[in-house]
Amino acid sequence: MKTKNILLIGGSGFLGSHVARRLAAQGHRLTVPTRHRERARHLLVLPTVEVVETSVHDAARLTALVAGQDAVINFVGILHSRYGLPYGADFARAHVALPKMIAAACRAAGVRRLLHVSALHADANGPSQYLRSKGEGEAALRAAGDALDLTIFRPSVIFGPDDAFLNLFARLQRLAPVMPLGNTRARFQPVYVEDVAEAIVASLDRSEAFGQAYCCCGPRVYTLAELVRYVGEQIGRPRPIIPLPEALARLQAGLLELLPNPPMSVDNLDSMDVDSVCTEGEPLPFGAVPTPLEAVAPEYLAASTPRYRYYGYRLKARR
Ligand SMILES: NC(=O)c1ccc[n+]([C@@H]2O[C@H](COP(=O)([O-])OP(=O)(O)OC[C@H]3O[C@@H](n4cnc5c(N)ncnc54)[C@H](OP(=O)(O)O)[C@@H]3O)[C@@H](O)[C@H]2O)c1
Repeated sequence: MKTKNILLIGGSGFLGSHVARRLAAQGHRLTVPTRHRERARHLLVLPTVEVVETSVHDAARLTALVAGQDAVINFVGILHSRYGLPYGADFARAHVALPKMIAAACRAAGVRRLLHVSALHADANGPSQYLRSKGEGEAALRAAGDALDLTIFRPSVIFGPDDAFLNLFARLQRLAPVMPLGNTRARFQPVYVEDVAEAIVASLDRSEAFGQAYCCCGPRVYTLAELVRYVGEQIGRPRPIIPLPEALARLQAGLLELLPNPPMSVDNLDSMDVDSVCTEGEPLPFGAVPTPLEAVAPEYLAASTPRYRYYGYRLKARR
């Protein structure tokens, strides 16, 4: 396999780091821009990874990063934003403006291969600012047409050591005696982070992936209540779940989003109006068999992961 130069924008995060490890193991030369070098420290041990502290929102710096790459992968995504219609300014910047700038930088630098991580049911007319902005971001990339060999990935919620979803419910059940919960019947089809990483890496050289959008899901559908109950059982703290009526759930989310590192927002609740499940086709591209949650989650849920400890420290420090 030919060694490639690959730019991983947002590559310091949960999914990006798994992809970086796989690509580095194949010998590819990776560049990972980050806003804070410290956040990408775990990647510095990989021999072919260069971490660059910079702003990818600066067009000139972005174009310089893209120049000379064989492929670009965009992982940047956020869960919370200031409010706005159809989406707030932070979503607009991270999910729409940045993909547009990436497409422009690729065209300017003559880089054709672009992989972009979106979200399941991303839709410019979706129920939440998150999904609408993710949908607009996809549309902005598709507008580049034949100038790019584009592949989009649309995962359901992703699980794995250091995930932000199951670990959050573990932490909450360690702290609280009961779990007041909105949208308990919202459905998810959680997908293992290594399965998504494998799909991304496998798509890199496949011409049949050009122009495609792949949904990524696990083998089983769960309600939110089932997932919370499962996590509680795994950590030995199964808390009673108290389903909240919609008005109370929105009030709870509205209060939680005032926290510095919000575990939930009203917009997150709105995203749950559409079930995060794969409705058609295969759960993973290229015939891959998805890993069951039960095969992986018990081990890491029982332990305190670095992200879990970090979140705890931030809560304590109120930062
Ligand atoms: N995790 C899931 O369950 C899930 C489910 C569906 C879709 N997705 C999508 O998958 C992608 C990766 O998710 P993830 O869980 O790996 O996210 P993550 O851990 O939060 O990582 C995202 C990375 O993006 C960078 N970033 C965040 N905000 C940014 C901003 N405003 N400007 C520039 N860079 C920014 C951060 O890098 P630095 O801090 O180093 O700059 C961060 O490491 C995202 O697009 C997400 O929406 C995730």
